[in-house]
Amino acid sequence: PVPIVIDCDPGHDDALAIMLAAADPAVDLLAITTVAGNQTLEKTTLNARRVCGIAGITDVPVAAGCARPLLQPPGVAADVHGASGLDGPRFAEPTVDVVPEHAVDLLHRILRDHPEPVTLVPTAPLTNIALLLTRHPESAARIREIVLMGGSTDRGNRTPAAEFNIHADPEAADIVFGSGVPVTMCGLNVTHQALATPDVLARFTGLGTELGDVCAELLAFYGSAYHRLWGMPHPPLHDPVAVARVIDPDLVRCVDANVAVELHGRYTRGATVVDLHGYLDRPVNARVAVALDAARFWDRMVDAVRTLGAR
Ligand code: BDR
Ligand code: CA
Repeated sequence: PVPIVIDCDPGHDDALAIMLAAADPAVDLLAITTVAGNQTLEKTTLNARRVCGIAGITDVPVAAGCARPLLQPPGVAADVHGASGLDGPRFAEPTVDVVPEHAVDLLHRILRDHPEPVTLVPTAPLTNIALLLTRHPESAARIREIVLMGGSTDRGNRTPAAEFNIHADPEAADIVFGSGVPVTMCGLNVTHQALATPDVLARFTGLGTELGDVCAELLAFYGSAYHRLWGMPHPPLHDPVAVARVIDPDLVRCVDANVAVELHGRYTRGATVVDLHGYLDRPVNARVAVALDAARFWDRMVDAVRTLGAR
C-alpha cells in the first residue's frame, strides 16, 4: 500500500475522505493532520477525532496544525458545513485523542523516518504543507507526491474565479505549486463529477450499519447546503476524489500543465490559472485531474464505509 498522510479540515467531504483513506487496502494511512479551513482549527480537529471515533479508526495519530492562513485573516465555510463544521449527525464525545505534537512537526518526523517516500493528500487550505516545505525544505525530497483537492480548471466556488481551499490561503498554495514536489491537482472541474445522488445515499443506508447511516446524514445536510447555496440537485463530494487518485490512478485521468496561483488579482485572488493549452510557455508543474470514473469511485467509497462499519 502507498503510505499517505491526509491533511484536512473536516468538513463533510473531508470526513468521507478520512474513511476512504483509513479503509482502502491500497493506501496505508500514517496520520491525519488538521488545519483551519471549513471551520476553526479547534472545530476541525474535534471533527477529525469524531470521525475517527465513529469509524473505529483508533490506530492513526491525529495532530492539529495551523490555526490561520500564512498571511490573510482566517475565514470559515459555515454556510456549507454548519456551525460545527460537521453539522447533521449527533456525535458522542470522541474517544480518540489528539497527539501533543504540531501537525507540521509530525509531518516532518514521518517524512524523515518512514522507510519509503510518503504521499501527502491535502483536502484543505495548504497552510500546513507550505509551512512544512518552508521550515523543513529537506522534507521535499521525502514526499513522493502531493495529491491535493483544490483549485479548478475553470470557475470557482468561493468567488467567481477561486475555489475555497486555494482562496483560503493563496500564498500557501503558491508555495506548494512552486515547490518542485510533484503535485496532482484534483479541482472542482473533476470533483463535480462525484455527485452524491439519492442512489448513493441509499447505498450507505443499505449497509445497515450506524456508520452507513451517519454518512447518509452527513450527505443529506451537505446536500441541502449545496441546494440552498448553488441550486445543485446533488452535492459534489470533493475531497475523497484526491484519495481515490492515490488508491487507483486510473480512477482520475490527469493531464500535465502549468498551474499558477493568482495572488494579486483584483477580482481573482486565489484562482488557479491552469494553462491547459500551453499559452504561457511556462514549465509543467502539475498533473491536473480532468475526468473521474464516477461509478468505480462510488464503489470504492461505499466499500470503505462497509469495511469500517463491520469492524
Ligand atoms: C473544498 O472546500 C471545502 O469546503 C471542502 O471540504 C473541500 O475541501 C471544496 O472547494
Ligand atoms: Ca476540505
